[in-house]
Amino acid sequence: MSDTDLSAYKRSAALTALDYVKDGMVLGLGTGSTAKEFIMALGTKVAAGMKLRGVSTSRETATLADRSGIVLLDDNDHWPIDVAVDGADQVDPSFNLIKGGGGALLKEKIVAVSAKQFIVLIDYTKRVPFLGKTFPLPIEVISFGWRNTARAIEALTRSRVVLREQAGAPFRTESGNLIVDTHMARIDNPRELDAALHHIPGIVETGLFIDCADVLIVGTPQGVETYH
Ligand code: 5RP
Repeated sequence: MSDTDLSAYKRSAALTALDYVKDGMVLGLGTGSTAKEFIMALGTKVAAGMKLRGVSTSRETATLADRSGIVLLDDNDHWPIDVAVDGADQVDPSFNLIKGGGGALLKEKIVAVSAKQFIVLIDYTKRVPFLGKTFPLPIEVISFGWRNTARAIEALTRSRVVLREQAGAPFRTESGNLIVDTHMARIDNPRELDAALHHIPGIVETGLFIDCADVLIVGTPQGVETYH
């Protein structure tokens, strides 16, 4: 199914998430096409008089938030985030996630775990019986010695690791790091894998979001499903 077909499901999930937004809240704002639907929908709330502040997980999101009239907190502030809302690339039956398709996983994870409540919005195609296989696990690594870090990831996961590129050059995250996409046939134990990966020097953060999601909102052809 094309992204255009799926955008209606992303939008319906995003509109449902508006129910969790109250006047005066500080929101964590995710990155990607689903988060974009949510941020644009917030613009209607602001236009109707709601006062919202936000923390952005990317420059792209900061631009959208600005257009929607959301005042952004400074990177150096302490953020009292009430609700963070973001998309995901895969969600397993325990609501563990793979994120980072858009390369914003580090900021997204910091914001998600800083929030009192983390809401994940997806279209129904993102639900999977287990993580991996149809989506590589993004891992953010520092550029110093990245080939050695990639080898260590390969040895741990026994999987192919590919440096992410953009326009023929290594993709750089907003924190100046690299992303290696790890093509795993199946992630049997996401928690164990995440812990093991964090022992490899050079890894800044992984795209595994374990026990983070408090609410999952899924746009489906039959309507919106919400799980707490
Ligand atoms: C960006 C992400 C996104 O949330 C994820 O890639 C989903 O994107 P989309 O909503 O465009 O399908 O993790 O780093």
